[in-house]
Amino acid sequence: MKILLTGANGQLAQDILAEAEKRGFEVRGFGRQELDIIDYNRLKEAISSLRPDVVINCAAYNAVDKAESDWQTAFLVNGIGPRNLASICGGLKIPLVHFSTDFVFDGKKGSPYTIADTPSPVNKYGQSKLLGEQEVRHLTPYHYLIRISWVFGIKGKTEVNFIKKLISWANKYQELRIVTDQTSSPSFTPDLAKAVLDLIQTKQYGLYHLCNSGYCSRYEWAKFVLEKIGWQGNLLPAKSDDFPSPARRPVFSALDPFPLKEILGYLLPSWQEATERFLKESL
Ligand SMILES: NC(=O)c1ccc[n+]([C@@H]2O[C@H](COP(=O)([O-])OP(=O)(O)OC[C@H]3O[C@@H](n4cnc5c(N)ncnc54)[C@H](OP(=O)(O)O)[C@@H]3O)[C@@H](O)[C@H]2O)c1
Repeated sequence: MKILLTGANGQLAQDILAEAEKRGFEVRGFGRQELDIIDYNRLKEAISSLRPDVVINCAAYNAVDKAESDWQTAFLVNGIGPRNLASICGGLKIPLVHFSTDFVFDGKKGSPYTIADTPSPVNKYGQSKLLGEQEVRHLTPYHYLIRISWVFGIKGKTEVNFIKKLISWANKYQELRIVTDQTSSPSFTPDLAKAVLDLIQTKQYGLYHLCNSGYCSRYEWAKFVLEKIGWQGNLLPAKSDDFPSPARRPVFSALDPFPLKEILGYLLPSWQEATERFLKESL
């Protein structure tokens, strides 16, 4: 199996690269400097010359608040980049893996979203990711479109990882206020990486929801982490309105992984077990 992976320096990308190498796949990862997914001609040249068996797109613009003002960049990276990839991969009949987000949903449903639910994003980031989904679905039938949520990995930047941010706050402050009105499914990158590499061997193209099992609020997740690391400070519940930010967030955007079990034969471990593994490996 020969894989071309874009956005190679991201937190999910690095674990997909590691898992692919572990499995003996031939994998070529390109960071943004080497291969910008907005550049159609450069992408076409790279994919046509490497002729991979599958392209995995991990490149994304994930700055949710910044996307409200810098929306054109978000739409370029999350919408036009995937359009370029889908158009090239579709033409060459090369399967494409593309990741989307629970933030395509408005959060009003009150129970986990299935692949049959209709997206209705509440912020520009969600709109840009939805545009990417639509382009991929229209332009190539050979797609694995995988929505993931609340991604956390050992590698990658602190800005995109809630636990890393939380631990850095806990090291600085004796009191933390964390919101109770944002709930979703945390997703640990090594678990996602394994499932993605299993999925691409099924040839069962389509839309998937992939995340660790169960869901929690930001507050519940923080409480779990802070207890595990033995933090002695004071954790207080808060509301999103207490921290005005440019982008609205969905209140409840947990993902229902159906039909993952039917396709892969397993579900991912619980978010609690995954969080414990993250803490053991990173502390
Ligand atoms: N993080 C989350 O909580 C979350 C939640 C739901 C879904 N997702 C989705 O999951 C996927 C993986 O996310 P992640 O957390 O691993 O992201 P990440 O760590 O932010 O990695 C994204 C990578 O894409 C690169 N990139 C940005 N613009 C690019 C361009 N034009 N061409 C090529 N590369 C570019 C970035 O490089 P620079 O660092 O140089 O900008 C970065 O290395 C993304 O599709 C994301 O939208 C993430």
